Amino acid sequence: MSAFLCKLDDIPNRGSISLTSGPEGRHRDFLAVRRTDKVFVYVNVCPHTGAPLDFTPGQFMSLDKGHIQCANHGAMFRINDGYCVSGPCAGASLEEVKTEIRDGAVYLKDWSE
Ligand code: FES
Repeated sequence: MSAFLCKLDDIPNRGSISLTSGPEGRHRDFLAVRRTDKVFVYVNVCPHTGAPLDFTPGQFMSLDKGHIQCANHGAMFRINDGYCVSGPCAGASLEEVKTEIRDGAVYLKDWSE
């Protein structure tokens, strides 16, 4: 089973957005990063403190757009697997969410309603 998350074009190329999705009463907050025709989605919870990573909604990218960066204490995460390469939670990882792209839309895979 899969659930609609957003249109691919809702995410700026080399940029990011924040999203809330899920069944009624069990919504979760996600961050999505786009690299041309690829999308990487993670639960918007920093492994350092459990806080959301963004102060400004949807702004998750480092200045050079090479990493996901937590706005709280600067932890840097690889885009392709969410692994923290520097900061107070180095070695930890963001919770990855599997997705698929169909007909220009991003769907959460294996999403249980
Ligand atoms: S809450 Fe993310 S680095 Fe501290």
